[in-house]
Amino acid sequence: DKGNHRHFMVKEIHEQPEVVGRTLGHYLDLVASAAKAVDDIDFSRIDRLSITACGTAYYAGFVAKYWFERIARLPVDIDIASEFRYREQPLSKDGLSIVISQSGETADTLASLRYAKGQGQRIAAIVNVRESTIAREADVMLPILAGPEIGVASTKAFTAQLAVLAAVAIAAGRARGTIDAAEEALLVRSFSEVPRLMHEALRLEGQIEALARDLAKVKHCLYLGRGTSYPIALEGALKLKEISYIHAEGYAAGELKHGPIALIDEEMPVVVIAPYDRVFEKTVSNMQEVAARGGRIILITDRKGSEAAAIDAVETLILPEMPAAVTPLVYAIPVQLLAYHTAVFMGTDVDQPRNLAKSVTVE
Ligand code: F6R
Repeated sequence: DKGNHRHFMVKEIHEQPEVVGRTLGHYLDLVASAAKAVDDIDFSRIDRLSITACGTAYYAGFVAKYWFERIARLPVDIDIASEFRYREQPLSKDGLSIVISQSGETADTLASLRYAKGQGQRIAAIVNVRESTIAREADVMLPILAGPEIGVASTKAFTAQLAVLAAVAIAAGRARGTIDAAEEALLVRSFSEVPRLMHEALRLEGQIEALARDLAKVKHCLYLGRGTSYPIALEGALKLKEISYIHAEGYAAGELKHGPIALIDEEMPVVVIAPYDRVFEKTVSNMQEVAARGGRIILITDRKGSEAAAIDAVETLILPEMPAAVTPLVYAIPVQLLAYHTAVFMGTDVDQPRNLAKSVTVE
């Protein structure tokens, strides 16, 4: 049931404050401002993490790499499942494999799980469908509790996956002694603000719809981000191409000058995801390179970022200021809405985009 919404996708986008609030409440003790321990995983004995997934779930894992490395000082290898399964890499017995899958049935992700298991690794699966094959074959199953996701383009499953991964990264940091109780409390309180921040992000919908009207006329679009905003740029580009069929690429902002800058002209919109964080200045200098070549910029940032950017000819979406750790969850929303409204203007079949399946059970 779509309720008052025109498509399942936009309904699911709007469900995110509630879904993510529920997921965070399951994995974090909001009263004690602490992460709940993850049963059956002793992070103090783990020396390396391998995170494997496909598509949007892979991008959730990519964000988590930054969190695990920073919060828990745990090295993370992040892989696309179709590559991981055939690469025959050596895996340490003291390593943990995390596979992420909304459906729990993705063929390549399942094959990766079996490969890692065969190498003697323990497997934690972050899944939405609890009765799935991946859930069953994992040693530890961490449900994302997003409820059924009907739109083929993943939205609420993505942010719910991020919520689980953030909570697990905090728990890992505590178990490994890389954060103290005060730092843990600060992180947990920051994440507990996410549902409210997501509500604020949803209020940008009218402005995003106006931008989407123009975006629907272009052939190509570039997304740039740095740090945890880099995987959000990748996710933004994926969302746009899957449902609007506009060619989009996500790039690490610092890679711009190593090739993609050649594409920049007046016709090429560039979506820059840049909260005012410790890499903001670096991203802005990349954005200036785009502006100097006449590129059209859509900047997604906060008040401080918009003041510090000081570039004309920029369309700016302003989110509330928030701690750096939580930005991926909140910045996902404008990126999803931009893809959604662009697709609506294009008149595509948003919930059932051509050539795509909700569950990819063949490789
Ligand atoms: C993107 C999308 C796909 C899936 C990918 C993995 O919107 O839906 O990229 O994320 O096929 O699917 P799961 O998570 O079911 O393994």
